[in-house]
Amino acid sequence: MIEETEKFIERFRYKATKAVQVQSKIKQLDKVERLEVDEEDKSTINLRFPPSPRSGTVVVDAEGLTKKYGSLTVLNKIDFKISRGEKIAFVGRNGEGKTTLSRIIIGELDWVGNLKIGHNVKTGYFAQNQDVLLDESKTVLQTIDDIAKGDIRTKIRDMLGAFLFRGDDVEKKVKVLSGGERARLALVKLLLEPSNFLVLDEPTNHLDMRSKDILKQALIKYDGTLIVVSHDRDFLDGIVGKVYEFKHNKIKENIGGIYDFLRKKKIENLKDIERKDKAKNVSAQENVSSNKQKYLEKKEYDRNLRKLRKRLEESELIIEKIEAEIISVDKSFMESGNSSEAHEIDYKKYQDLKEQLNEEMNRWAQYSQEVEEFLQNNS
Ligand SMILES: Nc1ncnc2c1ncn2[C@@H]1O[C@H](COP(=O)(O)OP(=O)(O)O)[C@@H](O)[C@H]1O
Ligand SMILES: [Mg+2]
Repeated sequence: MIEETEKFIERFRYKATKAVQVQSKIKQLDKVERLEVDEEDKSTINLRFPPSPRSGTVVVDAEGLTKKYGSLTVLNKIDFKISRGEKIAFVGRNGEGKTTLSRIIIGELDWVGNLKIGHNVKTGYFAQNQDVLLDESKTVLQTIDDIAKGDIRTKIRDMLGAFLFRGDDVEKKVKVLSGGERARLALVKLLLEPSNFLVLDEPTNHLDMRSKDILKQALIKYDGTLIVVSHDRDFLDGIVGKVYEFKHNKIKENIGGIYDFLRKKKIENLKDIERKDKAKNVSAQENVSSNKQKYLEKKEYDRNLRKLRKRLEESELIIEKIEAEIISVDKSFMESGNSSEAHEIDYKKYQDLKEQLNEEMNRWAQYSQEVEEFLQNNS
């Protein structure tokens, strides 16, 4: 929001007709409370995982692993081997089977083929959809108090705070918690229970920046084996050393961090996997020569950019029009003397126009961001 507003101010700073808007945006920005990320604060919650006996060298060994739901094949004869201490990201479009494989590995789903879990592997699992076994009758604080052992006991409230349970929240009973709150509580609990193999399915969905970072630091230090399903590039960066891409009922192993993977796929972020795949399918079907293809792509690019820019310009025209109307209502208000009826009408109109203006400016900000993203993604 701050960035968008600053852009607006920058763009219209020298446009006389926008003076009022620019002033009001500047005021709006002044009012925004800015939170500094407190480095020191973060270090006080130095999460250390409870010690857990080492597992065998091979943690998961799969050969010809197949999973079907009825007639739907999700995984088709996949092979992979996970060794102790490896940290692996599961990425790919929705519906490609990341959750399914996670649940197979932790023993929640059946499968066909070979799958061996190594000696002494102690698994902790965070489910994408939390209907985990939390005791409904306990409070948030009790839930954690009952399992935390050792040094971390002095930091229970800090930890809960870091995962967004503030003040009286910790006295809430589990049964009244929202889905997001349950997910966060389950995560704290998981981090405090001894395990040597963590399987986390989209753990960051309900976290804010700070709790995400605390989780990230904890996972970097974690010396067990880790699988993490996530679409969050910046979260994965620094944690994982291997990426499994789920696609067409198979998985493809990529050695290296998440940015190595993105570079290899020539995409900016993990959401682009979907778009990139679609684009490829279209071009394969059309099967046109590469020159013609390039020409068509360029044309398509120009057309899309033109469309986005046109929308932005139209929005600017609408803003100018509303502003002109506001000025004229203002004038009418001044000239209507003491007639309170006329004042009221003008005031109502004025309010309406202000509202319209606000909506259109939000739209404008959105459009201008889309143009920028388009240029970035296609450069
Ligand atoms: N219990 C189930 N019964 C039938 N189909 C399922 C079930 N669970 C998942 N699926 C289907 O299996 C596919 C893979 O789902 P999922 O493993 O959740 O993918 P991802 O986690 O990669 O988004 C999807 O097409 C999904 O609709
Ligand atoms: Mg999933």
